[in-house]
Amino acid sequence: MVKFTYYGHAAFLLDDGNIRILGDPFLTGNPKASIKADAVECDYILVSHAHGDHLGDAPEIAKRTGAAIISTPEVIGVCEERAGQLKSCPMNLGGSLNLPGGKVRMVLAQHSAGVPGGIACGFVVELGGLHIYFAGDTALFSDMQVIGRKDKLDYALLPVGDNYTMGLEDAAQAAQWLAVRHVIPIHYNTWPVIEQDVQLFKQVTERMAHAEVHIVEPGQTLEMA
Ligand code: NI
Ligand code: MN
Repeated sequence: MVKFTYYGHAAFLLDDGNIRILGDPFLTGNPKASIKADAVECDYILVSHAHGDHLGDAPEIAKRTGAAIISTPEVIGVCEERAGQLKSCPMNLGGSLNLPGGKVRMVLAQHSAGVPGGIACGFVVELGGLHIYFAGDTALFSDMQVIGRKDKLDYALLPVGDNYTMGLEDAAQAAQWLAVRHVIPIHYNTWPVIEQDVQLFKQVTERMAHAEVHIVEPGQTLEMA
């Protein structure tokens, strides 16, 4: 069993009782943040790209906790410019990395990188016997079908806010293409420009994709099984 705690926007923690993986820890300045950056404990930090609403507090949390940042070399460079040398696992698209009791694979995203020469990414995390896809910021793209074919996905964390990423309709299509069992919408309602009716997303996705949609509020924990 893996515990998923939503920290608001695209920030979350996965905990299998052995290792804790923090994702896109934008907490300082995040109006929806449910925890302060200096209270987070983790072993690894996934950073999907260098935009402030994803890279967020990653350098400072890595420095304080000794957690390793898992990201592209360009994003790790930005983090180390801010906080000095950090523990890190530089990766790139298509690569995978073994973790104690798990694995992480870096996958394609369609979005700008926020750092010159970089590329935005998503991650497929294998933990506690589950495959969890964190899409990062992305548009809908047809190769999501390939991601869903490579690993039988149990959970997908999908941005649904529109404007900067795919919106409700495209995220419902993504759920179908990923052939995923459970979907958790993220990256919405943080600011007026990404306000969305996620109940509508739940209705549409559950009808269209046969996936169960879990609306998790910031600060809530979902037991993934
Ligand atoms: Ni972005
Ligand atoms: Mn974003």
